[in-house]
Amino acid sequence: MTTWFPTLITPTPEEGFDLAIKLARMAVKKTQPDETVRDILRPQYASDATELIAASHVVAVHFATIAAANGYWTANGDGRPR
Ligand code: HEM
Repeated sequence: MTTWFPTLITPTPEEGFDLAIKLARMAVKKTQPDETVRDILRPQYASDATELIAASHVVAVHFATIAAANGYWTANGDGRPR
């Protein structure tokens, strides 16, 4: 049982977005476990607009999954208010 990712269900869309960022970051961490390497590469992606857009896209894909899992945080589950 993992402890960092127990559920896709979040109380609010904002917390869902935070979870999406966490998933994106954890993928980087598991792909490159060496913290020293990540620390060296961080200033490069942080100052490159294309890389930041790429990171944003990854978060958006995760957020779409999380939003679907949460029924778009609406009672009827389709994102439309009743
Ligand atoms: C999907 C791609 C990525 C996303 C969404 C992402 C997101 C983030 C976020 C939100 C922060 C916190 C920024 C702050 O509050 O100042 C951060 C920090 C950091 N990122 Fe990334 N990042 C990504 C890719 C990468 C890559 C490719 C590397 C290096 C190989 C990296 C290394 C780091 C490091 C070293 C920090 C600062 C230390 C830390 O907060 O853990 N990230 N990243």
